[in-house]
Amino acid sequence: MRDVYQDIDHILIDEQKLQSRIQELADAITSTANDHEDLLLICVLKGGFMFLADLSRALKRPHELDFMGISSYGSGVKSSGAVQIIMDLKQPIVDRHVLIVEDIIDSGRTLQYMRRNLLARNPASLHICTLLNKPSRREVDVPVDYIGFDIPDKFVVGYGLDFDEIYRNLPFIAVLKPEVFAHLNL
Ligand code: IMP
Ligand code: MG
Repeated sequence: MRDVYQDIDHILIDEQKLQSRIQELADAITSTANDHEDLLLICVLKGGFMFLADLSRALKRPHELDFMGISSYGSGVKSSGAVQIIMDLKQPIVDRHVLIVEDIIDSGRTLQYMRRNLLARNPASLHICTLLNKPSRREVDVPVDYIGFDIPDKFVVGYGLDFDEIYRNLPFIAVLKPEVFAHLNL
């Protein structure tokens, strides 16, 4: 039987480090509560689902949740550059205090697109929280309010992040063995 754990080269961020950093992020978000009376967390699917689940549980202040499906990658490891909304929010966000919850910022194009799209709906405020950030890969400038971890320019999987839609279930952030990518012409 195929076992996803056999494809892992090494773990970059283990469960304990993830969870303690997420609690710190939640505390930082809670401490700015005055500015965010009616906080609405918007999870960017699919990659943000596990981070949202843990961040939401770690948040003490009241908040609502909504989901947005965004597609910015093909099945490979390089961005196509094209961003598409494949599932929109269930509700208007006018006058709401919105926090975008994203798995990773790479080129910045996905978040730049989302930010512009959501700002056009006139929220009271719009902030961004990302679990992972690859600063060396940035192509467009996006203001990010909360960052879990800066990571090197490596393709990572786990904790919501996929390669070819697999590995999202891993409870940590990991780097895959080179042979997993062997069939791709990178
Ligand atoms: P950006 O638009 O280039 O910033 O890419 C952001 C999106 O690309 C993320 O929401 C992820 O879905 C995907 N992505 C970027 N880097 C990685 C990675 O290392 N592993 C898995 N997905 C990634
Ligand atoms: Mg992806």
